[in-house]
Amino acid sequence: MILVTGGAGYIGAHAVMELQRAGYEVIVLDDLSYGHRELVEQVLQVPLIVGDIHDRALLDRVFATYPITAVMHFAAYIAVGESVSDPAKYYRNNVVGTLTLLEAMTAASIQQFVFSSTCALYGIPQFVPITEDHPQAPISPYAASKQMVERMLSDFEVAYGLKSVRFRYFNAAGADPSGQLGEDHNPETHLIPLVLLTAIGKQSAIQILGTDYPTRDGTCIRDYIHVTDLAQAHVLGLKYLEKGGHSDVFNLGNGNGFSVREVIDAARQVTGREIQIVERDRRSGDPPILVGSSDKAQKTLDWQPQYSDLNEILAHAWQWHQHRHGASGHPAVKK
Ligand SMILES: NC(=O)c1ccc[n+]([C@@H]2O[C@H](COP(=O)([O-])OP(=O)(O)OC[C@H]3O[C@@H](n4cnc5c(N)ncnc54)[C@H](O)[C@@H]3O)[C@@H](O)[C@H]2O)c1
Repeated sequence: MILVTGGAGYIGAHAVMELQRAGYEVIVLDDLSYGHRELVEQVLQVPLIVGDIHDRALLDRVFATYPITAVMHFAAYIAVGESVSDPAKYYRNNVVGTLTLLEAMTAASIQQFVFSSTCALYGIPQFVPITEDHPQAPISPYAASKQMVERMLSDFEVAYGLKSVRFRYFNAAGADPSGQLGEDHNPETHLIPLVLLTAIGKQSAIQILGTDYPTRDGTCIRDYIHVTDLAQAHVLGLKYLEKGGHSDVFNLGNGNGFSVREVIDAARQVTGREIQIVERDRRSGDPPILVGSSDKAQKTLDWQPQYSDLNEILAHAWQWHQHRHGASGHPAVKK
């Protein structure tokens, strides 16, 4: 059985679905601070333990009760801007919370761990596409919190034998092609859902933050990786550890960069709706181009992303947004 922390959130829920499709038994631990109970209970239909990764007594009980062989750890706070204004919140949850989880796993002799890290730990890229050996220079406390966990994982392996796969994601996007799962962050800070929420009428316009970058159309270029491809990589990472693979780190990206304007234009095509834009100044700390190389994951894990086309990523996300928010912009399903 696999314990998925943060399985009521966006990427964790998709990972649960892929684990189920691969025949794994799954249990979710999520404190529902940002997750959605009904996605776990009604859509995924797996046991949900509502609890916090800081709760060591709860973790000990969970590990003593269920035959858990590995942990996929998605639980974290994810808002980069908020991590700058409130770093304590991020170091406490993402670092101290993860330390508590790792200590409980070690005490229970559970030694396989799949971790959600981020491309943000590379900082401003010195070259693209970014490979795993690119120098690390995190700008935000959020990115630093992920780098600290990666360091802890290396040290835990040396001292306690914990094996881990660390995935550094680029921008997770899209939704399960079934339309049953998708992205619903509150507050939402990611471009694609914000563009689609504009198309659906929940906000009047989408802001473009900077139009004078040294890119093909002046807006930032990002690497959008379909969440189902991301989730499938997690299953392959788990199987790799189960087969005795050594601990390693892998980028997960699409390899193709799309500019903010290209995303908005594609969203106009996919939705058939007018999407108003408002041009604003650059936001500090945003690199012009972030594109990753995922060659290592493709070769080592035999990972073959299926949905690298931007229109397809948007079409899946749009299907989900219409289901979730309805044409009027009101949530169709409540938490
Ligand atoms: N979304 C992206 O593009 C992206 C990119 C890089 C890395 N990541 C990482 O992927 C992971 C999942 O991101 P997401 O977009 O699905 O976020 P999300 O907010 O949708 O999911 C995180 C889940 O963790 C839960 N959680 C938070 N703190 C917890 C705690 N202390 N105890 C128990 N549960 C807790 C939340 O309730 C939520 O359901 C995070 O670790 C994030 O840092 C995401």
